[in-house]
Amino acid sequence: MSSTDDAVAFWDGVYAARPAATDPRPNVRLTETATDLPPGRALDLGCGAGGDALWLARRGWRVTAVDISAVAVDRLTDLARAHGLGDRVAAERHDLGAFAPQGPFDLVSAHYLHTPLDLDRAGVLRAAAHALAPGGLLLVVDHGSIAPWSWNQDPEARHPTPHEVAAGIALDPAGWTVERADAPRRIATGPDGSTAEVTDHVLLVRRTA
Ligand SMILES: C[S@@+](CC[C@H](N)C(=O)[O-])C[C@H]1O[C@@H](n2cnc3c(N)ncnc32)[C@H](O)[C@@H]1O
Repeated sequence: MSSTDDAVAFWDGVYAARPAATDPRPNVRLTETATDLPPGRALDLGCGAGGDALWLARRGWRVTAVDISAVAVDRLTDLARAHGLGDRVAAERHDLGAFAPQGPFDLVSAHYLHTPLDLDRAGVLRAAAHALAPGGLLLVVDHGSIAPWSWNQDPEARHPTPHEVAAGIALDPAGWTVERADAPRRIATGPDGSTAEVTDHVLLVRRTA
């Protein structure tokens, strides 16, 4: 099996084990970043259940939502149609490790793009940053702590800081500028309805040229 096959099997298994959401919630770091942005073209990397893509589409954005899981992509396609957003959400199945984003995008969002399988995440984010229009934003939100319901309960897990993530992407400061790099906390709700305080690692980069 190739590494793509392994990743497909893993993530299809994750989504197939969950009931399909009827109206998945958007991530709070997306809503706080994009609420005041004028709608344009957005790319959601590792879209999962699609709460972010649907939220953006409702606000007038045209969204390309990419995930390796056919289960997630098919569910999002059906949901977008059911919510009358089928013309604004293009849900596509790709392995991001072999994906060339066709910009220009005004916003690229990568929320919790974590996987136990091989993925050159820095390379994916670098390619996405190059697909931004001038003035466009790359929002990378990572886990900075482990929620009790996470699939990853490895106590040795390291959570790179936003500055470390930015250093890994290695964008030329002449063309991209870091606008936000911090570690806010929030109360999160798990799939079973329980709550816990979690930390996000937030990196926001703007393409300036
Ligand atoms: C932790 S989930 C986050 C999902 C969603 N962004 C969210 O905020 O809920 C990571 C997502 O990345 C996707 N993913 C993992 N590896 C991938 C790859 N190589 N190519 C594309 N998507 C991938 C998974 O299928 C999964 O939906």
